[in-house]
Parts: sequence; structure tokens; C-alpha cells
Amino acid sequence: MPMTDETKEDLISVDPASVADDQLSELPQASPHIHETRKFPDGFLWGTATAAHQVEGGNVNCDWCRWEQAGHVLRGQVSGQACDQFNRYEEDFDLAAELGNNAHRLSIEWARIEPEDGRFDQEAILHYRRVLEALRKRGLSPMVTLWHFTLPQWFADRGGWEWSGAVSRFARYSEKMAEELGDLIDLWVTINEPMIYLGQSYGTGVWPPGKKGIWRVLRVFSRLVRAHRASYDRLHRQLDRDGYRARVGIAKNVVTYEPYRRYSELDSVFIRLADRLFNHQFFIWTRGKHDFIGVNYYFHYRIRYRPTKISSFFHEVHTENREVSDLGWEINPDGMFDTLMSMSRYGLPVYVTENGIASADDGKRPRALVSMVKEIYHAIKAGVDVRGYYHWSLLDNFEWEKGYDGKFGLVAVDFRNQQRQPRRSYYVYQDICRENGIRHDLLRFLGHGVRW
Ligand code: BGC
Repeated sequence: MPMTDETKEDLISVDPASVADDQLSELPQASPHIHETRKFPDGFLWGTATAAHQVEGGNVNCDWCRWEQAGHVLRGQVSGQACDQFNRYEEDFDLAAELGNNAHRLSIEWARIEPEDGRFDQEAILHYRRVLEALRKRGLSPMVTLWHFTLPQWFADRGGWEWSGAVSRFARYSEKMAEELGDLIDLWVTINEPMIYLGQSYGTGVWPPGKKGIWRVLRVFSRLVRAHRASYDRLHRQLDRDGYRARVGIAKNVVTYEPYRRYSELDSVFIRLADRLFNHQFFIWTRGKHDFIGVNYYFHYRIRYRPTKISSFFHEVHTENREVSDLGWEINPDGMFDTLMSMSRYGLPVYVTENGIASADDGKRPRALVSMVKEIYHAIKAGVDVRGYYHWSLLDNFEWEKGYDGKFGLVAVDFRNQQRQPRRSYYVYQDICRENGIRHDLLRFLGHGVRW
């Protein structure tokens, strides 16, 4: 439950040495005359992000549900009731409002809205109207994702994105949402992380449908490109007709790459290729169909070209001697700056639609959070039109193939009784959101060698 301001102050002014790793015990002392806050532009959006299947619970009519039942998730876990947000959204939005947020990103569950091909469920639509109204009532501007990895069962049964009817069905669903919910949504995300979906579902096969193959990858890539383009057009057609200012984009996972061997030409060539293929290809194929660029930033890879090993011909990920999250993902705040600079080439407003780390004891999250936000500040100063930051995530939730093992929440959830407990980083983020900036005092969360 939200704590008093005094308790919060206690939490964010703890001895830095206990906050993250031992580096922090040697913190630089703040010089007495530098007390200014690094202010963000007025109207900057501060939010958190979630996705329906990961938090709502009881989502039984989709491909992921079957996938879980078949035992594909770590230790046989299933999403089950998740955070029960389907019923507890008011309570959760109170936590988001108390955080000082003025925005929130969530997704609508297509499987609930259209449980059978062409049959739209008015009850489900009404539910999401209430959810969005609950956000607006609390001053949280909604960013809504139409498709965040889970497919209606009927759609999956016909071949999912490989099915020739896929694009027209997604366009129809998009238009329906614009018609029904257009008055309540400020920012629309058609598709979440198309390249991650391709990799997980058709590359490594750890997500449904778990069908590997290069031809499938290419076919689904082209369908997702067409699905986004069609959805963009339909949303605009409907929303423009109804007089709403539609702003539509995607949430794109962007990876920063670094050559493992600094002087290796091959490593460098590969990272340029990987950057182009993974980070930019989708934008290139959907040029002209974005009103903003949405960036999900989590990954930094050090790549080594190694032609002898077929399974990882071009690609090895090295994290040794680097700080990593509970899931072994390198924490690299500099990459946030690089990503934003690189995305500015499209000349559109940029939103950080997701960013966060798994940290069950919250040890590394305060520092990661402050340093990521600091890099966004620097990117804005360098001229990038960044308009908002949505931390992943408000709550611990169902982390796909990792089940409940990845704890990404600013708020911990006890899944036995659905109790919510804000972590220390909740109050650190609250400080940032309420100040619309980073107070110099938060420098204590950064380590040596970090530029302020
Ligand atoms: C996805 C989320 C996921 C998060 C952490 C993003 O790739 O959009 O659904 O939970 O990363 O893995």
C-alpha cells in the first residue's frame, strides 16, 4: 500500500551501500552548490506499462493459454489468475496515480473482444471502456496496445499470422476498437515488438506456435508489416471521421550492439547488419505509417563473429564482467541514450514504451531506473523529441516462458493472496514523476564513473 511521504523519504535516502552493489559505498559526494533538478519538458508523460495476458488473469480463449497447459513454461507454470487485474484495475490504477504518473500503457485482449471470428463481445468492450475511464478519472493518459503477443484461439487455429486472412481480421478488429473506444485513447500501439515475436515464436520456438523455419519467419514478417499498415490506416480513417486526433505507432524492441573484439572488422560488420535488420527493418517497411516511434529498451549484446559454430554462426552474447539483471540481461543505461539518438533519424516524437529490469530483491532497480531516466534526459538535451517514459512494469506479472520467475514490478505481488507491496524503487520513481525530473539527491543511486 502507498506509504506516507516520511516513509518514502526514509526509503529513498537509505545508505547507498545497501542499495545496489558495493560500488555504491564509494559514492561521490554531491557538491553543495549543485542542487538543481534535471527537469524534463512540461507535459512529459510518466507512466508504467503492462500487457493484458500478463496481468489480467483468467484469459482462457487464446493461444498462450493452450501453450501453458501443454507445459511449455518454466517449471510447468501457467498464467492462471495472474495479478487478477481484470477485477482489481481500480486498485492498481490508484497505485499508478499515487506514483505521480500522468500516463499508463496497457493492452486490450483481442481474444476477449472477438472470441469468435467476426463476433464482437459487447460485455468485453464495455469492460475496457470502464478500465479506460478509470484511468482518465485518475489523470492517467491511456496508451493502448491492440496486440501484445496473445492471439484469439480461433485465429491461432487457422494458422495465426501465417493465415492468409490474418491481415484483414486484424484490420477489422482495429477499426472496431477505434469505433468503440476512440474517445478514450490518446496513443495507439498496433503491435508490440514484432521482431521479438518472430524470434521467439518462429526462430527459437519457445512461444506459440513454436514452429521454426526461415520461410515462416519471412512470411510472418511480411504479414506483420501489412497488419500494421492496414491497422494504421483503419484507425486513422475511423478516428479522423469521428474527430479524434489519432496518434498511432508500434512498440519496437531496440537492441544496442557492441563488437566483442573492439578491433575485429567481422564483429563490427555483424553488429551493423544486426542493427539494421533487427532495429530498423520494420520501420523501413512501414515508413509513413507511424505518428511516433515507440521504443522498448532492454537489451545490450556484445557480439562475436564465430563461423565455426553453426548454431550461433554470427552471434554470441557476452555478459561477463557486466552488471546483469535476475534474468542475466546486461544492464546498460548508455544504450538508452544511443537508442534514442538512433531513433531520432525518423524525425518523429519518441516514447520509451517499455524499460525495466527483473530484480526480485529490488537491489539493482533503483540505480538502473535513475540511470536510464538520466540517459533520456541527456538525449532530450541532445535534441531528441522524447515525449514519455513507461516503466516496465507497475506490478510483478506473468513473464511469458519464464512464468512468475521474472520480477519486474515497482510493486511486488504476492500471488497467493494478491497483496500488493510497493518496493523501494516505487518511491524512487515517484520522486522522479512528481518532480518531473531527477533531483540531484538521487545521484546517490548511481555509481562511480557515471556522468551526471
Ligand atoms: C515485452 C513484455 C515483457 C518484457 C520483459 C517486453 O519484451 O513487451 O511483455 O514482459 O519485455 O521481458
